[in-house]
Amino acid sequence: AVFMTFCFKVLISQCNMEPQPKCQVRKFPKGFIFGTATSSYQIEGAWDADGKTENIWDHMTHTRPDLIKDGTAGDIADNSYYLYKRDVEMLRELGVDFYRFSLSWSRILPTSFPDKINEAGVAYYNNLINELLKNNIEPMVTIFHWDLPQRLQELGGWANPNIVDWYADYARTVFTLFGDRVKYWITINEPHAVCHYSYGDTFLAPALGFKGVPEYLCAKNLLVAHATAYHIYDQDFRPKQKGIIFISLSAQWYEPLTESDTEVADEANQFEWKQYSDPIFSKTGDFPPAMKRRIAARSAEQGFFRSRLPEFTQDEIELIRGSSDIFGLNHYFSNYVNRNDSVYGYYESPSFKDDLGVFYTVLPEWNLGESDYMKNVPWGFYKLLTHIRKDYGNPTVFITENGFPTRGGLNDDVRITYYTEYMSAMLDAMEEGADVRAYTAWSLMDNYEWSSGYIEKFGLYEVDYSSPQLTRTPRKSAYFIKEIFRTHKLRR
Ligand code: NOJ
Repeated sequence: AVFMTFCFKVLISQCNMEPQPKCQVRKFPKGFIFGTATSSYQIEGAWDADGKTENIWDHMTHTRPDLIKDGTAGDIADNSYYLYKRDVEMLRELGVDFYRFSLSWSRILPTSFPDKINEAGVAYYNNLINELLKNNIEPMVTIFHWDLPQRLQELGGWANPNIVDWYADYARTVFTLFGDRVKYWITINEPHAVCHYSYGDTFLAPALGFKGVPEYLCAKNLLVAHATAYHIYDQDFRPKQKGIIFISLSAQWYEPLTESDTEVADEANQFEWKQYSDPIFSKTGDFPPAMKRRIAARSAEQGFFRSRLPEFTQDEIELIRGSSDIFGLNHYFSNYVNRNDSVYGYYESPSFKDDLGVFYTVLPEWNLGESDYMKNVPWGFYKLLTHIRKDYGNPTVFITENGFPTRGGLNDDVRITYYTEYMSAMLDAMEEGADVRAYTAWSLMDNYEWSSGYIEKFGLYEVDYSSPQLTRTPRKSAYFIKEIFRTHKLRR
């Protein structure tokens, strides 16, 4: 056994030798878990079935189809509300340990509040959860993945501080309904997208395009709401239900373009993702310093009487600090950053970009396949994980999303390349100590990719939208991933 361990270590160390790794096999540590992910609006369809009420994505796609590249909606999407058994069959075929999916607030609470529980909606999730457990698949449940009830939006949505109570009541409801069987809870998916692309711009629903103020109100309220739900679970449910609860943050990595851009890149990382991770995972429990300084200064220049970035009270800081059992990370790609010049303007809400005041560059060689916006920068994943390890005292990380889109077809070699290189970069970071314990491929199957409609396809399974049964067929990458999940080995 000692000899084997020695050989294994030699092999692993050879795997790290760039540029020509000799080793073709890399092993995931014992206990590492694998899964795939989806979200309610992107797959369920049945948008007004059985008592479900309108959410902001129903509303936006029906009133502003011009904001969606192909003008489509998620009215039917993958019809998973009816086809969930097929979905679970696919998960079984892939051999996942867990399945990450989300709950639709307006399907469970049609008034948005806990005065009325929609039994049909609850039955759907009960059936799905039970079907998963029957197949030895752990449910990993996202409580909120962007589909806010439209009624709450009309009351200001995440810009209204009362959302802390609305969200907390919804969370308490779902802990009560499903917590006997669900042991992994994700409070909120990608706050950055929830607040900046949607309050500060028109890229995602509710597409307010209201510059500069609401997006930061959203950020603060969302963090307080998340932390409140965390403590509700921790105090009232965890003792009996014994699960874990965390938030999923999106983070790209921002790398200095030149040596003189180091500070700029650091600020970009602060703005783009540490805005949400610093309050939870840093010792300060507050928004990052550069962000506070820059927004305050810019607000003063613009004639505001106070910073557009709201402050946390001391109580809120205490509430939010440490309010995530692990670091849930969604990661896709990276950017170079500089202050003066833009070769390619990475997408960001206008006022956010203005407050931050930097430019992003992506290199042509990062292009892989036909995606409009996704790039292949595996070393950025390594750098990001290493930064999280060093900056936040090596928290346990679950990769809750990682993946690459194509435009269709079963032969998706580019997706296999992407997965191979990103998992390899993740293993590099883990071998240096990053405590990553789960990996989630986005996505189980093609689905409604928000404002890209059905154009960008992330699925391990292809969905045939022209067939009435919405036939799901495994792509080449499904077989590739299945082999990794089965053997816990990455071959390259
Ligand atoms: C982010 C989101 O969480 C998910 O809904 C989306 O489809 C993927 N990443 C791909 O863009």
